[in-house]
Amino acid sequence: MVTRRLPPAVEDVLVREWDAKLNTEDRPLDAAGLKRALGACDALLCTVTDRITSDVLAAEPLAARILANFGVGFNHIDLAAAKARNLVVTNTPDVLTEDTADDAVMLMLMVARRAGEGERHVRSRAWTGWRPTHMLGTKVSGKILGLVGMGRIARAVAQRAHFGFGMRIVFHDPYPPPPELVKQLGAEARGSVDEVIREADFVSLHCPATPETRHLIDARRLSLMRRGAFLINTARGDVVDEGALVAALKAGAIKGAALDVYEREPTVTPDLLTLENVVLLPHLGSATEETRVAMGMRTIENLRAFFGGTPPRDRVA
Ligand code: 8YV
Repeated sequence: MVTRRLPPAVEDVLVREWDAKLNTEDRPLDAAGLKRALGACDALLCTVTDRITSDVLAAEPLAARILANFGVGFNHIDLAAAKARNLVVTNTPDVLTEDTADDAVMLMLMVARRAGEGERHVRSRAWTGWRPTHMLGTKVSGKILGLVGMGRIARAVAQRAHFGFGMRIVFHDPYPPPPELVKQLGAEARGSVDEVIREADFVSLHCPATPETRHLIDARRLSLMRRGAFLINTARGDVVDEGALVAALKAGAIKGAALDVYEREPTVTPDLLTLENVVLLPHLGSATEETRVAMGMRTIENLRAFFGGTPPRDRVA
């Protein structure tokens, strides 16, 4: 059972290899729909829009044996409940690293250089012509980029920012990469998230969404940021307290924010929509043709392994 429409190249393989039920209407499944699906299929190919809670996983009867997630993040799946029901869970790391890093860099540039505002300005026909003081933004090259988390995506962001924009990279990760890798990226470790936040001109979030990272960026941490600093989020919405972010932006405690993900997706805190110094994208991190096909093929690889009796490469539970 495939919960959302996937690129045709992926759906073709799924239909060819298995008795795949596609979601031709592309309508997200609610809890009852997910329960019905779990009772009727051997494998559920799911996405971030499926809330696979302990209640959903209590489905009776349960026929499914694997949740093959299309995406690297799996905070929408209750892993403990999945394990308790002997369900294998897989994800799709690696293939979306570059696109998500590109997305973070794009957001950093957009918010610093006021690209969203500029677009709106031209499209509304308000532009009267070039002038030396028009829509001045903030310089990005040579600034300090603070990374919260230093996993695959953060490292790809560091590589782009350091070698492409001559930025200094500071980061905190409780499980840092090997020192030689950090050195290669010209990055400097810091002992805490607070230290990174205090120092950075741009703070980019690259941690998973877990109970520990929920509202990691709250009112207190926002108050530690430089007044001229920007917050970038391509990780998960609930890492940021959206209410506190609105308050910080309105008070001028930080200069701007650029978000790809939201606390209550697809609902966006209404005040964010009214602020000019905020860039808002609709969860586009991995949204390229190439990568969505690669994610699909990686999901298929996991399913093939599972049904072929070998351990899937990307097992997370
Ligand atoms: C996906 C993502 O588009 O992989 C992730 O964790 O956030 C996005 O790249 C989405 O999760 C698909 O399920």
